[in-house]
Amino acid sequence: MHSPELTIVLPTFNEAGNLAMMVERIDAALAGIPHEILVVDDDSPDGTAAAARAIGRDKPHVRCIRRIGRRGLSGACAEGMMAAAAPVVAVMDADGQHDETILPAMLARIAAGADVVVGSRYAAGGSAGAGLTRTRARGSELATRLSQLVLKRAVSDPMSGFFMLRRELADRVAGSVAREGFKVLFDILWRVGPQARVEEVPFTFRERQQGESKLGFVVTMQFLGLLVSRLTGGLLPVQFLLFALVGFSGLFVHLAALYVLAEVGGLSFVWSQLAATLIAMTTNFLLNNWLTFAHRRLKGWRVLYGLVTFCLVCSLGAVANISVAVWVYQFDKATMLAGLAGALMSSVFNYAVTKLVTWQDV
Ligand code: GDD
Ligand code: MN
Repeated sequence: MHSPELTIVLPTFNEAGNLAMMVERIDAALAGIPHEILVVDDDSPDGTAAAARAIGRDKPHVRCIRRIGRRGLSGACAEGMMAAAAPVVAVMDADGQHDETILPAMLARIAAGADVVVGSRYAAGGSAGAGLTRTRARGSELATRLSQLVLKRAVSDPMSGFFMLRRELADRVAGSVAREGFKVLFDILWRVGPQARVEEVPFTFRERQQGESKLGFVVTMQFLGLLVSRLTGGLLPVQFLLFALVGFSGLFVHLAALYVLAEVGGLSFVWSQLAATLIAMTTNFLLNNWLTFAHRRLKGWRVLYGLVTFCLVCSLGAVANISVAVWVYQFDKATMLAGLAGALMSSVFNYAVTKLVTWQDV
């Protein structure tokens, strides 16, 4: 076997039924080009990893990384790129939607000096027609515009999940791309900076072969978080933004619960306030578990552990909040400023500590 010139990273979640077809198609498209295929599976319940290993027994150029306790397309892509043996890495969906026949053309662009080559649905000659529903097409258009604004770069399809780059470049950026969400290419383009040579090869986005798309509300929110994060120069992590958003929603939950308990239910103010606090903490926990820490989502009994630790940490956060607020208030009797400082203190504290303790996300 020749040493591979190209590594194809296939991130998978529940794609067992598509893998054999994917390998066949890629091998056919890359006939004569030594390559390896690296499946990065997030412990799919449908046995994708086992299917990949079974293929690998016959075809040793197919390998599988099985990630345990982690979820997220971007993180899977980053890990796959780092584990690649070839000097050039491509990432593509494992469901048949990306046109593997353009891989040799993409590789030729890299050989001719491009740093990143994007498989584009929106460049002249490409199309997203069959692959997207109407709402998805609208959303995709809007997301594309927004990310072009943030990137300040004329890439027609910065949201594509199909791209190729030099491994050395991947090594440089992979450690710092956002691990949550889908938009790994967007983040890579943001990291490589304006001097990098980015080219595009058009293709037609096909329909999914089997199974279903994993892009939903959570992925959309992660993307919006990523845009805001990158707009702030990457200063605020996506996770923190989502955590803060959830915290903000807790304010409304709290007030609504307080109103219902005290005004409608006639409960005493003290008890209503206490109950409303617990309700808001619980919804905050559940929302964070579902959205902010989707990649570490607690299930079964661990939800209870999560809720208890979350409430304990947030109570400490409240103490931190009050201490800081009182401290700031001493210097300058600016009530609002002191209140804001306290709230900021507790949100950073709650975020950092629940991330570690509740979701054990290090
Ligand atoms: N390892 C891993 N972990 N893989 C995942 C995960 C995950 O959490 N979520 C999805 N995948 C894999 C899928 O198994 C598939 O191979 C690929 O990532 C794309 O997921 P789909 O669920 O098929 O996404 P899509 O078709 O809706 O979205 C595609 O188009 C978008 C643009 O409209 C993807 O190419 C996106 O990257 C792209 O932004
Ligand atoms: Mn897909």
